Amino acid sequence: MTPVVRAYEPRDFEPLVALEAQLFGSDAWSPEVCALELHHPFSHYLVLDDGAVVRGYGGLRVPAGAGPGDIQTLAVHPDYRRAGWARRILNELVGHATKRGVPELLLEVRADNPAAQALYDSAGFHEIARRPHYYQPDGVDAMVMRLTLSQGEGVAR
Ligand SMILES: CC(C)(COP(=O)(O)OP(=O)(O)OC[C@H]1O[C@@H](n2cnc3c(N)ncnc32)[C@H](O)[C@@H]1OP(=O)(O)O)[C@@H](O)C(=O)NCCC(=O)NCCS
Repeated sequence: MTPVVRAYEPRDFEPLVALEAQLFGSDAWSPEVCALELHHPFSHYLVLDDGAVVRGYGGLRVPAGAGPGDIQTLAVHPDYRRAGWARRILNELVGHATKRGVPELLLEVRADNPAAQALYDSAGFHEIARRPHYYQPDGVDAMVMRLTLSQGEGVAR
């Protein structure tokens, strides 16, 4: 089956947690953190579904008030990379935030992750700050990136 991007459903929890551990290693969220994150009332999560199992996912927090939204995570299984799936998930998350009237989106990305930085850069995000030694135990800096949204705006490629 051709993979599809669709909304997260509770049945996706266990495969998503397994993929999180596989893809993020020492930075991986625990199952408890995944549960809090995925079931948070302000969360909006999408999965890449190949018809059998979850092959990628991405999530967003949209605030109740007028503040910025946060891209919480984005990941694609190695077998499915460089096919545009992460960009597709990111586009859908940005579209959701735009429809909800979110003025800007923030995210954090490891300073030693050029693939993710290139993805976010190509989607119009810009670095606005650094958080030194944010990722532990590796001690790697976080780059804070921002995308300003306006109503009806799509994602720059
Ligand atoms: C980063 C990640 C999500 C990209 O997923 P993907 O589905 O392969 O990305 P896409 O195919 O949508 O690529 C979109 C753009 O991102 C950039 N990009 C993606 N992978 C890249 C790589 N390995 N090197 C350089 N640029 C890359 C390119 O600009 C690419 O556009 P192009 O293919 O037209 O050149 C994936 O590599 C991943 O899951 N990595 C591990 C988890 C992670 O680091 N997540 C980010 C946390 S902030």
